[in-house]
Amino acid sequence: MTSDECAAKPPQRTQVGIVGAGPAGLLLSHLLHLAGVDSVVLETRSRAEIEATLRAGVLEQGTVDLLRECGLGERMLREGFVHQGIELLFDGSRHRLDFAELTGGRAITIYPQHEVIRDLVRARLDAGGHIMFEAHGVEVLDFDTASPRIRYERGSVSRELVCDYIAGCDGFHGVCRQAVPAAARSEYARSYPFGWFGILVRAAPYSKELVYAHHERGFSLVSTRSATVQRLYLQCDPADHPRDWGDERIWAELDERLATRDRWTLPRGEIFQKGVIAMRSFVVEPMTYGTLYLAGDAAHIVPPTGAKGLNLAVADVQILAAALAERYTTGKAHTLQQYSENALERVWAAEHFSWWMTSMLHRFSDDDPFGHRMQLAQLRKVIGSSALQTALAEQYVGAPLPGTAAYLKASPPRGRNRRSIDRADSSNLPG
Ligand code: FAD
Ligand code: PHB
Repeated sequence: MTSDECAAKPPQRTQVGIVGAGPAGLLLSHLLHLAGVDSVVLETRSRAEIEATLRAGVLEQGTVDLLRECGLGERMLREGFVHQGIELLFDGSRHRLDFAELTGGRAITIYPQHEVIRDLVRARLDAGGHIMFEAHGVEVLDFDTASPRIRYERGSVSRELVCDYIAGCDGFHGVCRQAVPAAARSEYARSYPFGWFGILVRAAPYSKELVYAHHERGFSLVSTRSATVQRLYLQCDPADHPRDWGDERIWAELDERLATRDRWTLPRGEIFQKGVIAMRSFVVEPMTYGTLYLAGDAAHIVPPTGAKGLNLAVADVQILAAALAERYTTGKAHTLQQYSENALERVWAAEHFSWWMTSMLHRFSDDDPFGHRMQLAQLRKVIGSSALQTALAEQYVGAPLPGTAAYLKASPPRGRNRRSIDRADSSNLPG
């Protein structure tokens, strides 16, 4: 255990036991803390690992607003890049969608997910929060009762945490969703016959805004990380390995896919990170079982084309934290019982948007020239219609989060909210 982590004996009891220290788990813990509700986060990986994992880059306006309102905005506002639009590149031309104009001033912010994680870890540890890194063999137990437990091992010592509720924020490959009896969950899935090959390049920004490019050789995306590091993606075979993609092949492919009539080219830079990302859509329904609540990638996955995954995780935990805060403040469980229904509404909207962007921009292996022409017709329709541009822009910047942090204003952090929950109110328990 490092000095940053909780040096004290690990707690054996908490109000909300959270599995997973990704954006969902850490933000939930932070929001609950602000509402005076105790939580403990259990994470398999080390702090260094979670703070170094490269993933998302795009924060919706609602995500930025929430992070700012709950005291996590300082570095994001200083170091993030606000983008007021994106570009669609097809048929050799770049077309800008002006989000600010189309959505009444809303925008996105480019701020890497691992920086959000660093801000969250720091905020939780500074507030004396418990994050148990390197907790192995995590098992969630008795979540069909009002006293669920989490069993885990740390440093070869087996421990148990008793809670009122468990939040399963352990990502797509975690244990929480799998622990729900198969008969009690419905899963909806689609996997795509392609992946994304992602690279980081040492170079100055290639474009003022993100460029989503359609090409008969496949999709590509020009994104950014900082003034000196750029993020680029190329549609690839999902079975590809970074060793299949030598630097020359990458640059040649980017040159072809991003070619424009006005001869836009990307100056070469040192490629210092390469990786292949799978593309899938997935939703589990419902997102709850008894006293277990799933949030983020543990409950749903979107292909990254719509930049929605992290933002959906944030929306889930905003809804869940508000419902848990209400439960502890008023004793009423109604909003908590509505959690899955409320979260799934946004989830399915994001699933549709991500599927639509993916279908419009990628080359499918069974594409014939007709399929390619249909995609071009669709893209031309989008840039030729202010109604379609508005629809795309509104979905990309994201709807405002439901009741953004209203409960934070209603119940500022005045210490622990230890109101015990009414054990008789077990209407969310199965059976
Ligand atoms: P995760 O980030 O997966 O966190 C889960 C945590 O749980 C992990 O730390 C894991 O170690 C831990 N864990 C797993 N199993 C256990 C266990 N048994 N016990 C304890 N801990 C466990 N989204 C966007 O919104 N915008 C983007 O621009 C964007 N771009 C992306 C680009 C790429 C290349 C990829 C791969 C994803 C992108 N996403 C994007 C998606 C986004 O990164 C995820 O949706 C987001 O990380 C989900 O957060 P989470 O907390 O639910 O899950
Ligand atoms: C990223 O910068 O990592 C990124 C940007 C936009 C996406 C997906 C990923 O749609």
